Amino acid sequence: MYIESDGARYEFAKSRSDNYRAAVGSIGRVWDEDLDAMYAYLDPEPGDNILEVGAGSGFFSFPISRGIGEQGLLYVTDPSIEQLQSVLEQQSANMIILAQGAEEIALGEGAPAIDKIWSRGAFHHVRDKTETFSRWRRLVHGNSRMAIFDIFSHNRTARFFDGFVARSCVTGHEVSYLSKDFATSLCANTGWREPEFHDIDLKWSFENEQHLGRFLGLLLANKASFSEADSVAAAKHYLGVRDTDDGLSLDWPMTMMTSSALPGYE
Ligand SMILES: C[S@@+](CC[C@H](N)C(=O)[O-])C[C@H]1O[C@@H](n2cnc3c(N)ncnc32)[C@H](O)[C@@H]1O
Repeated sequence: MYIESDGARYEFAKSRSDNYRAAVGSIGRVWDEDLDAMYAYLDPEPGDNILEVGAGSGFFSFPISRGIGEQGLLYVTDPSIEQLQSVLEQQSANMIILAQGAEEIALGEGAPAIDKIWSRGAFHHVRDKTETFSRWRRLVHGNSRMAIFDIFSHNRTARFFDGFVARSCVTGHEVSYLSKDFATSLCANTGWREPEFHDIDLKWSFENEQHLGRFLGLLLANKASFSEADSVAAAKHYLGVRDTDDGLSLDWPMTMMTSSALPGYE
């Protein structure tokens, strides 16, 4: 199923998506710690069947695909076909790519039960979270796990997005961040065990302020009226920027929520 990316229903279309792909396409080592977190909490293993939700331009898709090997299967999903373009161009044999939002994932006839679900930076865009978790529960088996790595309402990053990005970004940024309490209720209501939360204070590394400003300006698709220097100033105000031996680092706190399936909902 292909969901039309009209920019009204889904944020990542047109220049928002072009900019995001450009930022991730020249990412260098900025997201090394994000990758470490994926390996630690998703732990893709040979033969796993994994569902990736809101995969964007595939920053995690390729490492996950390598981790599960040729016996595994990775469903790479995102509602924006534009976001998925880079994955489509370099698709591995163990990937199935679906232009679907989290709320409407359908893997098709004969799909195996999913062992692990991974989503990074996308869940705050999901509008009907209860329908989404219920749907995911029907796609997995009784021992499956999920790892949702996102901005939660208690993270300072939420303030950065609400206070700055919601006005600087070409599409705005109207989203809903999970709280730990709501996420716990969500799991209880939809067939998932009580979740664990791991607050991870990521450090994103940059060569200098110009590099930081250029990256944020692209990742968060600044309107013409917002400069890269404005992004740096907001990052300093809301997040924290520190000098390091070889450049600077940006504090980017996120939360990893993990849960496993309660048997009996298949
Ligand atoms: C910040 S990007 C994260 C992309 C990728 N996971 C990463 O870490 O680079 C957010 C992604 O969420 C996707 N998205 C937006 N609404 C969504 C929804 N309802 N369900 C799933 N993904 C959604 C966007 O298209 C976009 O690719």
